[in-house]
Amino acid sequence: MPFPCTAAHDLGTYQTYRGLPTLAGLTTMAGAMNPGLSVDQCVQRLKRYHYAFKRLHEIFTARLTAEPIYELKTAFSLHAHLCAEHVSTLRARIAEMREPPLGLDVTPDTNLEVFFDEILSAPQNQTLVTGLYTKALPALKAGMERHLRETHPLVDHPSIRLCRFALLEVDDMIRFGEKAVDCLVDQTEAAGMVTWLKLLDDALLAAGSLDGSQHSSGVPAVRGYSAKPFVYDPTPRRDERFIDPYNRGVNPEAFLYDPKFPNNAKVLMMLFKRIRELDVPEMMGSIISETKGKPWGYYRDMSRQLWDEARHTMMGEVGLTSLGIDWRKIPITWTFSRNLNTQLKAMDRHAVLFFIEQGLMPRTGKRYEWEVGMASGDALAGLFQDYDWADEVLHASIGRQWYVKEFATPREAIAYGDQCWSQIASDYRELMEKGLTEHRNWWPEVYRTACRHWNIEPDPVVLAYDTTYESTRADLQELPMSE
Ligand SMILES: [Fe+2]
Ligand SMILES: [Fe+2]
Repeated sequence: MPFPCTAAHDLGTYQTYRGLPTLAGLTTMAGAMNPGLSVDQCVQRLKRYHYAFKRLHEIFTARLTAEPIYELKTAFSLHAHLCAEHVSTLRARIAEMREPPLGLDVTPDTNLEVFFDEILSAPQNQTLVTGLYTKALPALKAGMERHLRETHPLVDHPSIRLCRFALLEVDDMIRFGEKAVDCLVDQTEAAGMVTWLKLLDDALLAAGSLDGSQHSSGVPAVRGYSAKPFVYDPTPRRDERFIDPYNRGVNPEAFLYDPKFPNNAKVLMMLFKRIRELDVPEMMGSIISETKGKPWGYYRDMSRQLWDEARHTMMGEVGLTSLGIDWRKIPITWTFSRNLNTQLKAMDRHAVLFFIEQGLMPRTGKRYEWEVGMASGDALAGLFQDYDWADEVLHASIGRQWYVKEFATPREAIAYGDQCWSQIASDYRELMEKGLTEHRNWWPEVYRTACRHWNIEPDPVVLAYDTTYESTRADLQELPMSE
């Protein structure tokens, strides 16, 4: 032994000043005397957590657009954002450890690659949520918990801090997912997945566990669903609660900017605009999934924006519910995400998004919506618009960072967005002729319900509102504003 007994000897007599906690409170003197993972071992494990978060981010993003169930769509939006944030933190930490960040695009273990490819290719949402939340995230959790036990508490403190924060959110995701599995997967479906779940377990055994710290089974992972390469599906889907999704019979922008209408009714219309924003995560999911080879910061920022748009949707859900309105009775359209995802390439969808969002910044945009919210006396609506406005300022800056810089001047970037948007066919009549919708005017019925909640008589001028997207463009734009 190179250092005989000194540690044990000193331990009995070692005293801090007046008994204060040792070592900044991180650990005891005894705890700090056990060696832990070397820098190299630590980096090997961090790279695998990084890979796991990156693949999870990819899967959540790739699956949210075509996922019909609203609660999964919004949760996937959140979980993609959380994973993207942890990817960023891990990249920064790995780069601190004598490790150029370049190796981060390398797959650390082909068995892990098969494991995540399988989940990406899961055929239904039941298999998908089971794979994500009962296999992948728990394996990641087990790896990071082992890291906390095995690494040195003092010398590797920056990694410990990172793992502890990440574990908080990994636990949140698992908690959501376990509930989701309980709600969505019945016994027969669970029985049908046994073989596939065993395949996932075997892939992890072959990888020596997700963190690579265990002995490999030596039996390479085999492919099941992922034997055929995953094909991204950009077509949005909605669950059965979404009625009449092609309906463009009520133009909320024309209402909002008409001074003859009162603030309470405008708040109601804004809440519809918020919940209708579900089409933005659906659209952004397709941009992120189909845009390859950007710096990681692009995926991180775009995923944050995607999550914000899902939050805006949920603001609408909460706001409408607070007014006693059942959102299932309102046509929450998907024409924006359907048209963009199926008619434009990813860069051009981003162009349209930026074009819309920079148009929200003038006085008549998000500030106006906040002023209406505040003036209405509905504190919740005022608060929602306050944060919605703040988020949109952030989004305009994300657009400048990742879209405008592709052009020589901002003017060209905006003009290109305008041009891409005008390529989208105005299909109001065609939708009717195809029998997809009658563009029913749902507004009077919803407004009446809110008036009952407010205990007021409906205003006949508000009740008579009947402006569609056919006759009036959305203030400056031809297509529904989706922000
Ligand atoms: Fe936005
Ligand atoms: Fe938004």
